[in-house]
Parts: sequence; structure tokens; C-alpha cells
Amino acid sequence: VSLKPLNTFGLEAKARVFVEVKSIEDLQEVLQSEVASDNPLFILGGGSNVLLSKDFDGLVIKNSIMGKEVVHETDDFVLVKIGAGENWHNFVLYALESGWGGIENLSLIPGTVGAAPMQNIGAYGVEIKEVFEHLQAVNISNGEVEKFNKEACRFGYRESIFKNKVKGQYIITHVTLKLTKEDHLLNTSYGAISETLEEMKVKKPTIQDVSEAVIKIRQSKLPDPAKIGNAGSFFKNPSVDRIQYEELKTEYPEIPGYDLPDNNVKVPAGWLIEQCGWKGVTRGAIGVHKNQALVLVNYGGGSGDDLKGLAEEIRASVIEKFGIELSAEVNII
Ligand code: EPU
Repeated sequence: VSLKPLNTFGLEAKARVFVEVKSIEDLQEVLQSEVASDNPLFILGGGSNVLLSKDFDGLVIKNSIMGKEVVHETDDFVLVKIGAGENWHNFVLYALESGWGGIENLSLIPGTVGAAPMQNIGAYGVEIKEVFEHLQAVNISNGEVEKFNKEACRFGYRESIFKNKVKGQYIITHVTLKLTKEDHLLNTSYGAISETLEEMKVKKPTIQDVSEAVIKIRQSKLPDPAKIGNAGSFFKNPSVDRIQYEELKTEYPEIPGYDLPDNNVKVPAGWLIEQCGWKGVTRGAIGVHKNQALVLVNYGGGSGDDLKGLAEEIRASVIEKFGIELSAEVNII
């Protein structure tokens, strides 16, 4: 089965066996089958954070568990339980229509609801962990449904327990978020948001306004995966210790940096990559996006191996110039 339509890089890669599941019961049945015990497994959500570098000689399970349900409600907030297969941005729109706040800054992020906590998606000053209540996941080893609260998920910058300690051991089936019904805590601290709201001539922003601003910013910088294959930021923004940052600053006075609590400084990978001359570079069918150097793109017909090679070259050049090691944000399969 070709996975090309199922990954936002649009890479040609085949799965030896492919199955789509629409319920926990479906999933449990598949996990109990011989094909699951005899093959390596790969769980696919929206395919927006993977680089398929070759064919997958195993079983690919596409998680299409749908549904949205208010499971608890007070005057101030709702707890909404969402199927992992729901498209993230469609859910954001649904929340906005329902008047629920908390995820407007996370508008237009590609991928599914189930993939969102996996890497603690974040943008424009907000991370999903801030509205996260708990999730349900099926334990692959015994098929049992388990609940993970916020603490158990060990959220960090683009990190959770599902990328670390229990990697490959669970399949997320439902995510429950706590969203505000009124008195929304808007976050417009990110420079680009306040500037865009000003351009929009909005004085007292609503959650809809913030979403609209975020959508405008993303559309101006980030390629639309429906038109140009990509997986968003390819690398994570690295953090360096303050001493190293000050040293870099003497050599590169304009280097941006954001203070972290532990005396570290986060440096935007996009800036480092651009300084190495990569912004807008194309290599046949693949390249580095012209408006955002952190995004690698496949214009069509590129191979996962070539993209992996390009990423490796970029990494090496950033190490050479700045002595900083970038690590991939996308999951390289
Ligand atoms: N920059 C450059 N050149 C570039 C790109 C960025 O100099 O080519 C500089 C910008 O000028 C700015 C800084 O880097 O000073 C930050 O850029 P931007 O606001 O575009 O954000 P980012 O750090 O590159 C991160 C997330 C994005 C998220 C934005 C907004 C990561 C790995 N990426 O990007 O998330 O949308 O912030 O919050 O943390 C994603 O994960 O796929 C993703 C798109």
C-alpha cells in the first residue's frame, strides 16, 4: 500500500501491510492478530511529522478514531473528549464555533488530535499541555486501555513520555482537553501576534481574532502541505548554556535568543540555518523553504533519503559554524 497520500511530505513509501482502525475495539482486534505479532508496527496519525525514508516492511496502522464529546461542563469550562483521528485544525475551528478558548494560538497546525500530545504541539506562546486534561491510550503489549493525566505525560518542549520512556508502546485513542467558556485567557505575547492584530485593527481581541492572526502569520511563513510537501519545523530549536550564548553573541551580535529558566538560552534553529546560507536552497525536487529556513520541502517527486541527506548536511554545517547540534523534530522512519 502506498503511503504517499498519508504523509504531508508527499513521499513515496510503501507499507507491507496497512490497516485503518475506527474504534478501540478495532484496534484491539488488530493488535491481537497474527500480523501484528509477526510484524514491526508503525502508527500513523495525520502523517504531518514523519519523514518516511524508505518502504516500511511491517504493519502500518492508521488511527481514524473519530468523535468529539463534552464529558463535563461547568459555568466556566468544558472538558471535551476527542477521538485521536480527528484533524487538529478542524477541532480548533469547532472549538472556536462553540465559543471555547485555549487553543486558538494552535490554529492551522497540521496533523491529528492524537499526535498533538505526543510532541506537545506548540506555537505562538501556547503549548497543548496548558489545556491538556488527560488521554486514553491502548497498551500495545496487552491491548488494555490506560489513562494518562498531565503529569504522567511528562510534557516538555516538543516532548512527552510517548517519544521517550514508553516510545512505541502505546497508541493514543482519545484526548481530553479543558477549554474555557468565558473569561478566555488570551495569549498575545508573541510579537508577530500583537503586530498582526494591530494590522487587523483589533483593539479587544476575541479568540476568533487571535486564531485569525495566527492563521495569517502561518500562511505568510509556512508552506501549505496541500501544495508543497513539508512537515513543519524539521528541527527543534536548540538550547545552549548562557556562557556559550554570550560567546556566540560576541562573534554574532545579532544572534536571537530566548531565556529559559535553567540559565539556558533557546536559539532559533531557523536563524542558524539561514546564517549557514540554506534559506531557499533547492536540490532538484527538494529544498529549504524560502520564507522559513527551518522547514524542509518536497516540491514533488523527492525521496525521503535525499531529504534525510539534506537534513544531515544542514546539521553538519550548523555544527561547523556555530558548534550547536540540531536534533530533528520530525520522526525519521
Ligand atoms: N528566523 C530566521 N530565519 C528563518 C526562520 C526564522 O532568522 O528562516 C528567526 C526569526 O526571525 C525569529 C526566530 O527565528 O527571530 C523565530 O522564528 P519563528 O517565529 O518563525 O519561529 P520558529 O522558532 O522558527 C517555532 C516552532 C513552530 C511555531 C513557531 C511559532 C519549533 C521547532 N518550531 O518556530 O512550530 O509555529 O515557533 O511559535 O519550535 C512546528 O513545530 O512544525 C512549527 C511550525
